[in-house]
Amino acid sequence: MPHLLYIESSPRKQRSASIEVATAFIEAWQARHTIATVDTLDVWNMPLPEFDGAVLDAKYAGIMGVERTPEQKQAWEQITELAQRFIKADIILFAVPMWNFGIPYKLKHLIDVVSQKDLLFTFDERGLNGLLDGRKVVVIAARGAPLDRAEHQIAYLTTWSEMVGIDEQYNVVIEKTLLGPDVDAESRQTAKTAAVDLAATL
Ligand SMILES: Cc1cc2nc3c(=O)[nH]c(=O)nc-3n(C[C@H](O)[C@H](O)[C@H](O)COP(=O)(O)O)c2cc1C
Repeated sequence: MPHLLYIESSPRKQRSASIEVATAFIEAWQARHTIATVDTLDVWNMPLPEFDGAVLDAKYAGIMGVERTPEQKQAWEQITELAQRFIKADIILFAVPMWNFGIPYKLKHLIDVVSQKDLLFTFDERGLNGLLDGRKVVVIAARGAPLDRAEHQIAYLTTWSEMVGIDEQYNVVIEKTLLGPDVDAESRQTAKTAAVDLAATL
């Protein structure tokens, strides 16, 4: 049964362009895969563990190949549970606003927490080896204005996808959401059409 992990990272909810287009994508994808399942991770409405103390020590113990203490093992369980939601997915869909050329800090928090050795990737002296190969990533990226300087939004998620072993990535961009209601509406409509077309292929 196809399974999609939807990661929502805009706090704007009803007004959000990335969520509006992602919703159109999900509806079209579900219409095509009637027995599919969707798991939603809303980074603004979930407890994201701080990455310090026992959980940080558990990470380094894993990297060093040292036995974790009971406290570290317990702290690591929440990381494993979160990682399982990525591992189970056939498609990982990111709906992501551009914030200061990059991604919202809550999404970065999720990525920092979940991107762990022996869960999403391994590494040794030969380099990184992603463990999520065979999955697909879809990025629905909203921006207020046309790109003028740096682009650390899609570029960052592409690097992350490659790190975890995913080389099949599709991007849909909604630009100019801050350039007036007409331009915003037109950008959303164009992106929704692209998202629905993409869903028909996945
Ligand atoms: C904190 C913050 C930083 C932003 N930084 C940028 C930016 O660097 N470039 C840009 O084009 N738009 C920027 N914007 C505008 C958003 O990208 C735009 O409103 C977009 O539609 C947000 O996606 P959403 O509608 O899904 O929330 C920023 C908005 C916020 C709240």
